[in-house]
Amino acid sequence: MNRCNSLLLILVVAAASLEANAKLSSKYYSSTCPQASSIVKEGTIAAIKNETRMGASLLRLHFHDCFVLGCDASILLDDNATFIGEKTAVPNNNSVRGFNVVDDIKAKLEKACPGVVSCADTLALAAHHSVVYLGGPSWKVGLGRRDSLTASRALANTSIPPPTSNLSALITSFAAQNLSVKDLVALSGSHTIGLARCTSFRGRIYNDSNIHSSFATSLQSNCPRSGNDNVLANLDLQTPTHFDDLYYNNLLNKKGLLHSDQELFNGSSTDNLVKKYAANTAAFFNAFAKAMVKMGKINPLTGSAGQIRKNCRKVD
Ligand code: HEM
Ligand SMILES: *[C@@H]1O[C@H](CO)[C@@H](O)[C@H](O)[C@H]1NC(C)=O
Ligand SMILES: *[C@@H]1O[C@H](CO)[C@@H](O)[C@H](O)[C@H]1NC(C)=O
Ligand SMILES: *[C@@H]1O[C@H](CO)[C@@H](O)[C@H](O)[C@H]1NC(C)=O
Ligand SMILES: *[C@@H]1O[C@H](CO)[C@@H](O)[C@H](O)[C@H]1NC(C)=O
Ligand SMILES: *[C@@H]1O[C@H](CO)[C@@H](O)[C@H](O)[C@H]1NC(C)=O
Ligand SMILES: *[C@@H]1O[C@H](CO)[C@@H](O)[C@H](O)[C@H]1NC(C)=O
Ligand SMILES: *[C@@H]1O[C@H](CO)[C@@H](O)[C@H](O)[C@H]1NC(C)=O
Ligand SMILES: *[C@@H]1O[C@H](CO)[C@@H](O)[C@H](O)[C@H]1NC(C)=O
Repeated sequence: MNRCNSLLLILVVAAASLEANAKLSSKYYSSTCPQASSIVKEGTIAAIKNETRMGASLLRLHFHDCFVLGCDASILLDDNATFIGEKTAVPNNNSVRGFNVVDDIKAKLEKACPGVVSCADTLALAAHHSVVYLGGPSWKVGLGRRDSLTASRALANTSIPPPTSNLSALITSFAAQNLSVKDLVALSGSHTIGLARCTSFRGRIYNDSNIHSSFATSLQSNCPRSGNDNVLANLDLQTPTHFDDLYYNNLLNKKGLLHSDQELFNGSSTDNLVKKYAANTAAFFNAFAKAMVKMGKINPLTGSAGQIRKNCRKVD
């Protein structure tokens, strides 16, 4: 073999192994369930029309799924007498929502294409359609994930960063999922929609220095030093139901709701990215879409690993 041919062979082998690593495909169901994405889209939009917050809740479910054992629908498993899952882990208990909506969508998928579309892919598609419907960017949703046979409450406790995190803890938590600092700043832009409980931002509004004073005072009236733990506030005070880049503008004005939000603009290395996304929606949308694709690829179960659950709440 001459040098030119061996170079070609190396290139072909390298391309084939890249393909094998890339596992997920946006066309995965094109012959087995071509209507999968549109069924999820319809169910997602109906749920958001019924309750605007549901778009945010579905986006967050995909995040909390992917950060614990990978994007495998482990978060959807219910606790029972012999099984403790992720739903009651600290970051999820009384906080993550949307399970009934996922059940309704999955029932429609099972009716159209029994045993074909995984719960993990349902979450990825619902997150995408939520963001698009609320005005955010679109991306090609990689598909072909299968569903876990288990869940980990311990990993849910430790792998999902708490809102009290400082910047270095956030960076470490995302790096553990092979996500970059840029991914961290872009994905945090999810907090342009949705709500948080008083218990999640109490420390911020009473103890932080880098907070706009009248913003803090107005939040304190519904979120006292003790009590009212579950009273809600908008993560984005400007346009809480629209997926835009005003989250970053809030940070420039010291009006991030969570301590972890404001950590991204607090005199450190991520300040420049925050400024960039505040000034340039297209740059934010582009980085967000890329980061969602990356997050969606965290440790998927593929091939014959795991299963396609019929009911997302339990292992078949
Ligand atoms: C960077 C680290 C992050 C931290 C510390 C964090 C923390 C939180 C907290 C504490 C809440 C409020 C929960 C409650 O009070 O019940 C929340 C809500 C939310 N988070 Fe995050 N989050 C982070 C990253 C992300 C990412 C990567 C996404 C999506 C890709 C996301 C999407 C959301 C959404 C959409 C909501 C609102 C949910 C709703 O209204 O139901 N977050 N987050
Ligand atoms: C509509 O939203 C309300 C909460 O605002 C919820 O209680 C109800 O179950 C939802 N209905 C459907 C059909 O999803
Ligand atoms: C989850 O929340 C419920 C209701 O507030 C509470 O009774 C339960 O103890 C919590 N579970 C855990 C594991 O913290
Ligand atoms: C998760 O955290 C809660 C609250 O700290 C604790 O009660 C529970 O034992 C932890 N679970 C695991 C499996 O680590
Ligand atoms: C950030 O938080 C981590 C974990 O809580 C802590 O170990 C570390 O000392 C903190 N770093 C700074 C710079 O405050
Ligand atoms: C991150 O990348 C390393 C090296 O490629 C790999 O071993 C690890 O499984 C990846 N972790 C995740 C969560 O994808
Ligand atoms: C604020 O900081 C003080 C002193 O560190 C602490 O005792 C208190 O629990 C903190 N308050 C909140 C709401 O986090
Ligand atoms: C910002 O930096 C200051 C000074 O280092 C620190 O006290 C504070 O915890 C940081 N974060 C926020 C959100 O204020
Ligand atoms: C409890 O949940 C596990 C995990 O989904 C499942 O395998 C098991 O069948 C469930 N047990 C009962 C009694 O439903």
